[in-house]
Amino acid sequence: MTKKNPSGAKKEPPTTVKGMQDVIGEEYYAYSGFFEKASEVAMYYGFRPIETPILEKEELFTSGVGLDTDIVEKEMYTLKTKGGDHLVMRPEGTAPIMRAYLEHGMQSWSQPVMLYYKGPFFRHENPQKGRSREFQSFGLEILGTQKSIADATIIHTTMIILKEAGLQNLVLNINSVGDKECRPKYVRELVSYYKKHISELCVDCKRRIKENPLRLLDCKNPKCQDIKAGAPSSVTHLCDECRSHFKEVLEYLEALNIPYRINNNLVRGLDYYSRTVFEITEETVETVEEEISEEKKKEGKEEPKEIVATSLALGGGGRYDYLARNLGSKKDIPGIGVGLGVERIFMTQGYKRQDPRIIKHPKVYFIQLGTHAKMRSLNIIEILRNARVPLMQSLAKDSLGSQLASAEKLKIPYAMIFGEKESIDDTVIIRDMNTRSQDTVKIVDLPKFLKTIK
Ligand code: HAM
Repeated sequence: MTKKNPSGAKKEPPTTVKGMQDVIGEEYYAYSGFFEKASEVAMYYGFRPIETPILEKEELFTSGVGLDTDIVEKEMYTLKTKGGDHLVMRPEGTAPIMRAYLEHGMQSWSQPVMLYYKGPFFRHENPQKGRSREFQSFGLEILGTQKSIADATIIHTTMIILKEAGLQNLVLNINSVGDKECRPKYVRELVSYYKKHISELCVDCKRRIKENPLRLLDCKNPKCQDIKAGAPSSVTHLCDECRSHFKEVLEYLEALNIPYRINNNLVRGLDYYSRTVFEITEETVETVEEEISEEKKKEGKEEPKEIVATSLALGGGGRYDYLARNLGSKKDIPGIGVGLGVERIFMTQGYKRQDPRIIKHPKVYFIQLGTHAKMRSLNIIEILRNARVPLMQSLAKDSLGSQLASAEKLKIPYAMIFGEKESIDDTVIIRDMNTRSQDTVKIVDLPKFLKTIK
């Protein structure tokens, strides 16, 4: 029934906030399964878990991720508390992890510190396929080393996590955006190149020249694509140290048999990156039926066309050797990491559901009849729990018919019936829902019997 509020106007039932979702039933298990497997892979590679709060101070992201980035400029959920603090629903995980590293003195731990984390992140974007305002992510970070093997470890572990989720046609795009030695010179060249074409650029790029030149290479506007194709590339401007670091990363990838594509336009949208940046996509071949002209039909050219489709980035990451200083650290703390978008992984062609270890498919539907039986029901359920037998029940129901109907509807293989007689005799009836055969079992023998139906 539609309720009325005190003013008399009709009140609609509440719904989720735009771009956010409830996770129910099988979908819940899909998330748990993915996170469980990803955590297990991460653990085997030496990562340990960490959980940071969903709310962080606003300045963590304004100083860490960068004021001119889309995330900070347009997409943060910011709130002001009654005490006047400016807080943010975390839009990403790396700045919080670095905050935690500094706050908990992880410099004194054995280095590098390898962490994994999972959970919801929030960005006020325009919701569309593969882009929501609340999304689930799994992340890996290695803090405290500049060594290229750390970059390779992050990429390799990420690839394994994706492969464990069934993905096969993965493409790794990689680039190096240099460091504080070589990047300024490269950025100057980029700006001077783009200034020559300023009249042909889109409005955003005109702004980017002044505010965030590297983001010029991110532009998707068709107007700017030819100019972008002719832009100088960062890899040809790397200093000796960055060049050899990048070379080493690529050598590790080759040794690990991880194919890669050097993508000169890959800069990624967050300011904290230095040296290695990368993104992973799934590439699939799709067949499209084209309208075939009469002429082509006569020539027999009727074959459908194959096009290569690339997914949105399933994950992306890179090095952030200056992030710690931007957050106020007196020392540089180098780091490298990745964030994976779980919803985007679920949308890929290769994805195969991973089952979580937690109980999923109940074996028994517990049915109780009569006051005495209902009274003892929770004790019987405890016997089943101790025997690790998953069940469903509806203790709130009273009639046999409605409880059996639920068991059938849920396709549960066994019903365990506990009525007044059974309560007096200390027995239960186990009914095979398919064959309808029944056994009467003494409660003391229940754990042993349950093993036979597992
Ligand atoms: P990011 O590329 O901004 O990187 O996000 C990581 C992944 O999260 C993306 O590749 C994408 O799969 C997913 N994602 C991002 N935004 C959305 C959205 N609105 N809806 C659905 N999925 C989304 C980072 O956040 C960095 N912290 C990664 C990193 C870790 N770099 C170093 N360490």
